[in-house]
Amino acid sequence: MTIFKCFIIIVLIDLCYVCVNSALEMPPSDQHQPSFTCVLGAGYSGLAAARYLKQYGLNFTVFEAASDVGGTWRFDPHVGYDEYGTPLATSMYKYLRTNTPRQTMEFNGFPFPKTSPSYPTGPCFYKYILAFTKYFKLRDNIQTNSFVQLVKWVGNHWEVTYTKTDERENHTVSCDFVVVATGQYMKPVMPKVPGQNVFKGPIMHSHDYRGPEPFKGKKVLLVGAGASGLDLATHLVNVTEKLVHSHHLKYNQPDFPKSYKKKPDMKVFLENGVIFNDDTFEDVDVVICCTGYEYHHPFLHQSAGLSAYGKFVLPLYQHIVNIRHPSMSFIGVVNVVITKTMDAQAEYIAALIAGRFKLPSQEDMLKKWLQHVYALQDRNKKIADVNVVGEDMDRYFANLTREAGITRVPPVLKDIRDFNAKYRLEDLLNYRDYDFEVIDPYHYKRWYNGGGDRGLECPLDDDTQ
Ligand SMILES: Cc1cc2nc3c(=O)[nH]c(=O)nc-3n(C[C@H](O)[C@H](O)[C@H](O)COP(=O)(O)OP(=O)(O)OC[C@H]3O[C@@H](n4cnc5c(N)ncnc54)[C@H](O)[C@@H]3O)c2cc1C
Ligand SMILES: *[C@@H]1O[C@H](CO)[C@@H](O)[C@H](O)[C@H]1NC(C)=O
Ligand SMILES: *[C@@H]1O[C@H](CO)[C@@H](O)[C@H](O)[C@H]1NC(C)=O
Ligand SMILES: *[C@@H]1O[C@H](CO)[C@@H](O)[C@H](O)[C@H]1NC(C)=O
Ligand SMILES: *[C@@H]1O[C@H](CO)[C@@H](O)[C@H](O)[C@H]1NC(C)=O
Repeated sequence: MTIFKCFIIIVLIDLCYVCVNSALEMPPSDQHQPSFTCVLGAGYSGLAAARYLKQYGLNFTVFEAASDVGGTWRFDPHVGYDEYGTPLATSMYKYLRTNTPRQTMEFNGFPFPKTSPSYPTGPCFYKYILAFTKYFKLRDNIQTNSFVQLVKWVGNHWEVTYTKTDERENHTVSCDFVVVATGQYMKPVMPKVPGQNVFKGPIMHSHDYRGPEPFKGKKVLLVGAGASGLDLATHLVNVTEKLVHSHHLKYNQPDFPKSYKKKPDMKVFLENGVIFNDDTFEDVDVVICCTGYEYHHPFLHQSAGLSAYGKFVLPLYQHIVNIRHPSMSFIGVVNVVITKTMDAQAEYIAALIAGRFKLPSQEDMLKKWLQHVYALQDRNKKIADVNVVGEDMDRYFANLTREAGITRVPPVLKDIRDFNAKYRLEDLLNYRDYDFEVIDPYHYKRWYNGGGDRGLECPLDDDTQ
């Protein structure tokens, strides 16, 4: 039986379940019974949710595992775990600049100052997030050092159990709505290669990379050429004694120095190096795997009724709403999209909780979801692609606006995203030496900004707490 048929059977069983339990479990959201919403995570997505929930006058708390807001954009010198032993979500490293124009990342109605470069530094984007938090007065609704361990459906509401990590105490709160905004870069994927335990050096993941300093004068093997792999190649190529890069991306490789060697996939590790698929050998001291992440929702109790592993969570309506329990929603369980997508999803969720629009019946949501799954099959995609939006991004934005009346993400942002994705691979070392401006919902302009230190400018206030 194909995995597709298998999933469809699961869904049909779900469908029957829904038919006999057809009362829609949406708590009332009128004045007489104010609802309480629990948001998990205070990164970009959770903060976006907080802003709209606040705007709609809803009662909510954001539970954030780390000691401060910002998620990915908060640099933390710790590796693996923070000072309280909580797993770190951030993979931020020194000298990072965004690899996408800020215009595709900005919160709705809260642009960077006009003179900001289009590819700000990591610390500058973090500053922007702090400025957003301050401007919308979100701090009072955010509880930091609160690591959510369990989210359980108990018949008519959710119970969220979290560890207050600085006090080492567990607490349980009752929530009418749960918004999961815990990000997608916490669980690194490591390649499995024969001989791995024979190799004497460290094999690490880019999640734990904080800067180039420890690799100075070393022989380094980078694995993978996704966003992180390419970025680290440019950061390391001039500081390492030798940089071996194993990947199969087709792109316009810059003129790297002779110490850079491109290699195909790894075949086997030896004590002091690696043999690749072309049967060549390279001696290396350390390996950095830039091999991506899986979704990670260890706190979801089975009563949530979801399947979540690898790169997908299902079944979700609009990649947002848990069809089994529509009072649970997700932000950021969606792939190959611009960061602003998370802002749109956040507005959709707040509008839903505020009762500004109604979802279809559970049965209709499942039917729609099933159609989406069948369409994947028609396009020769796998179930693992169920949360990929990519090329459909603009239609997705249009659908969210049509259904929920939220702000339309302008079509021009997909054009900017597409241009950037292509041009980045054409000119990896210089693509950030251009600035963009959105002229209207359909047009943008782009110009050479002179390069140099332009990218380091950050015209945001320092007073952001
Ligand atoms: C190195 C790197 C560079 C990137 N660069 C770009 C870029 O240039 N452009 C771009 O558009 N996108 C970029 N991204 C994508 C980036 O993740 C998004 O821009 C955005 O930060 C996603 O926000 P988020 O809130 O969904 O997730 P996150 O930023 O990961 O925030 C999730 C938050 O949830 C918290 N959390 C997790 N689990 C729990 C729990 N159980 N209980 C309580 N809290 C929890 C975490 O501590 C974290 O604060 C990059 C990602 C990485 C990893
Ligand atoms: C918000 O919800 C919390 C938790 O249910 C409750 O203790 C508090 O009284 C509520 N506040 C308001 C203003 O309704
Ligand atoms: C809190 O909950 C976690 C996860 O269930 C558990 O491992 C831990 O022992 C609990 N801590 C206390 C103080 O009860
Ligand atoms: C490495 O250094 C050379 C010489 O200074 C410079 O031309 C090149 O741009 C640098 N490469 C990177 C990727 O920074
Ligand atoms: C948008 O909605 C239409 C009509 O419901 C649907 O067929 C289509 O798949 C949706 N597209 C996306 C990307 O959500």
